[in-house]
Amino acid sequence: MIGRVCVAGAGTMGHGIALTYALAGCRVSLYDGFEPARAAAPRRIWESLSFLAEEGFLREAEARGAADRITLFDTLAEAVRDAELVLESVPENLALKRELFAELDALCPPDCVLASNTSSLPLSGITEGLRKERRAMAMVCHWYNPPFLIPIVELSFFGNMDAEVFERVRELHIRAGKQPVKVLKDIPGLVANRILHAMAREVFHLIEIEAASPEDIDRALKFGPGFRAATTGLLETADMGGLDIWCAAEDNLFPELNNADRACDLLRDYAARGKLGVKSGEGFFPYPGGTATAVVAAFRKRLLTQLRASGTY
Ligand SMILES: NC(=O)c1ccc[n+]([C@@H]2O[C@H](COP(=O)([O-])OP(=O)(O)OC[C@H]3O[C@@H](n4cnc5c(N)ncnc54)[C@H](O)[C@@H]3O)[C@@H](O)[C@H]2O)c1
Repeated sequence: MIGRVCVAGAGTMGHGIALTYALAGCRVSLYDGFEPARAAAPRRIWESLSFLAEEGFLREAEARGAADRITLFDTLAEAVRDAELVLESVPENLALKRELFAELDALCPPDCVLASNTSSLPLSGITEGLRKERRAMAMVCHWYNPPFLIPIVELSFFGNMDAEVFERVRELHIRAGKQPVKVLKDIPGLVANRILHAMAREVFHLIEIEAASPEDIDRALKFGPGFRAATTGLLETADMGGLDIWCAAEDNLFPELNNADRACDLLRDYAARGKLGVKSGEGFFPYPGGTATAVVAAFRKRLLTQLRASGTY
């Protein structure tokens, strides 16, 4: 049973992953190469833990216990000492991740699992140059943001690793309350992001052709396919609807759907003009002075409601 974990990179994902492992009872070493990130990490961790406690999801003592199980490090060698799993969550840059894996290879004992939270890079690229024995201990362990609220964790099982090692990692994530998805192919985007961006391509296209207002397009998703998908997977839904019906609908609709192989011009134009969404004060919707904080807080509360409900899905 894995009980000692190191998380490398204390940014948006890393601090939230660290607190989730700590809530599962692990001792967590959190390493970041940059002082501002290390300085911010304890506050970010405590804000998330106290949110869970204030919402009644945890007891205050559990939140404090989890915070106490996390130790910050400014040296990788010290952070990985004793670790049974090291999860890197540094920026999405192949050279950086490859270099970090090479350092970890030199520092960690042979039975330590090395995992990457990469969203889009191939595992084979990150582990290139490592010995076969080390590659057999390497995997993708891809979380969703915010990591302590979204249940999915995609775990790679690409044929490089023994089933026993995979099961050890899977058990840790089940203990952490996650819903592990075993991904069998080293494909960009794994499973969840491929589904997400296939849907996003059509959503942005519908905005571009002004098929409906942004409010109505989001309403269609939230109260239509998204509402159903939150409780029932697409394959379950298709089985209930009848596969003959789905087949006919797809023959009629597929020629009509967007099939672009690059992001749409509207999205590109917004991004180029600094219309970035919540972080710049305007995206598809406006977020005037200070409302962004409330929008993010409301998002977290809704996710927590969903997390509670998902126990029955
Ligand atoms: N943000 C998301 O929604 C999301 C979701 C799933 C997966 N991911 C993946 O998680 C990883 C991290 O993303 P993020 O959004 O947390 O990034 P981030 O920029 O918020 O955090 C990265 C952290 O890594 C630190 N860092 C940079 N170089 C380092 C090094 N050499 N050694 C140690 N620390 C270093 C930085 O100081 C920073 O704190 C990426 O691979 C990303 O694709 C992100």
